[in-house]
Amino acid sequence: MPASAAWYGYYAGYADNFVADIVAALPVSAETIMDPWNGSGTTTAIATAASRGSRGFDINPAAVVIATARLLRSDVAGSMASLTEELLSSASANPDFPVDSDLLHSWFSPQSVGLIRSLERRAFQLLVNADARDRAIDSVGDISALAAVVYLGLFRTIRTLLDPFLGSNPTWIRRNINPRNRLRPSQDTIHQNFRQAMEALTALVEASSQDYPDKNCPSSIALASSTDLPLEASSVDAVITSPPYCTRIDYVVATLPELAVLGLRANELKGLRDKMIGTPTIPGGKLETDFLADCPMSTQLLQEITAHESKASNGYYRKFFLRYLRGMNESIAEISRVARPGAPVVFVVQDSYYKEIRVDLASLIGEIAEVQGLTAVADHNFEVVARRNYATINPRSRVYRESTPATESVLIMAGE
Ligand SMILES: C[S@@+](CC[C@H](N)C(=O)[O-])C[C@H]1O[C@@H](n2cnc3c(N)ncnc32)[C@H](O)[C@@H]1O
Repeated sequence: MPASAAWYGYYAGYADNFVADIVAALPVSAETIMDPWNGSGTTTAIATAASRGSRGFDINPAAVVIATARLLRSDVAGSMASLTEELLSSASANPDFPVDSDLLHSWFSPQSVGLIRSLERRAFQLLVNADARDRAIDSVGDISALAAVVYLGLFRTIRTLLDPFLGSNPTWIRRNINPRNRLRPSQDTIHQNFRQAMEALTALVEASSQDYPDKNCPSSIALASSTDLPLEASSVDAVITSPPYCTRIDYVVATLPELAVLGLRANELKGLRDKMIGTPTIPGGKLETDFLADCPMSTQLLQEITAHESKASNGYYRKFFLRYLRGMNESIAEISRVARPGAPVVFVVQDSYYKEIRVDLASLIGEIAEVQGLTAVADHNFEVVARRNYATINPRSRVYRESTPATESVLIMAGE
């Protein structure tokens, strides 16, 4: 099966082999594997390929589309070229006039926005819903794997066109571009890029081993928050997941082009960021601290951060970490609720630093998990130095530390 990064290279994922090894080690009776932070869908794709059922959730609509695309059966690959041509000719014959609120205007001239939008609208009408007034973003949890692959083709098209505005940091993209400097790709350029994107995806679909979904082991991906999982109690046989990092990665900004394709509006950005764990925004309202009474490690981390001499430690950063830990607490309570007794629960986490203070996420999560009723079984730590890791993503963090190695930990727990 092609590696996750081949499907979509802009998301923080974990290694496919690692997930495959865990899935292979699970008892045959483990029919439903769940990932509450499914991202680009490594867990759900690998579980499906291994004939297990899977349930994947993410709060980011772009992630839901990417993960759904990876479930497309490989025998559909043969019809993708004709589908692509049909969409292109239908888009040429039915031009679209974009609305002012279209986020694609951030980077493209009005005419190019119209050309991109007509391709997206025809894909929507053909594969999702005939009513062109509806937006893709409102249907992501229900779209077919085929529709998801076509949207992934659109995502890739936009990313290729946006190349002049992308930085080396994958979570950063230029916005608020002067109208004179916005991109003006022609219909030919847009269509050619889409054709190429669909060809590359066809090769991936062909090479994937998704021959089912097996009727006895269905897989599904849905838009939901890890703090409120739409699952019955004790209904999953295993959890394999990698929680959001605690490094203020803004997944909404990182996937803004994709969210723009799906029809997200500018006035919805803040709401989506606020729902995400680990993003830099702090929603208004009181931040509950009750859970800290049972979590001495979280309490100590917050005390160290609050006491740090640097600016905003006692203000913004205290709130950021408190909000993150509270989100983890609520999510792990949900994981514990839906995992059946004895189910393996595997967390892959990376540590990070706030200034010189180490944020030992494995220990913090381990403590929260035990408070929420999970039992520790084992843990393994690995030094991650070779690749650029998320602990080093903020260059200013070097002011406080000489080197920036990160430790990746695998925490194995069991359901109550
Ligand atoms: C580290 S990534 C997971 C990557 C994944 N293992 C993969 O292979 O692509 C964490 C994910 O958590 C998601 N997330 C953040 N807050 C969430 C929430 N409240 N509910 C569900 N997902 C959330 C982010 O959108 C992101 O996709």
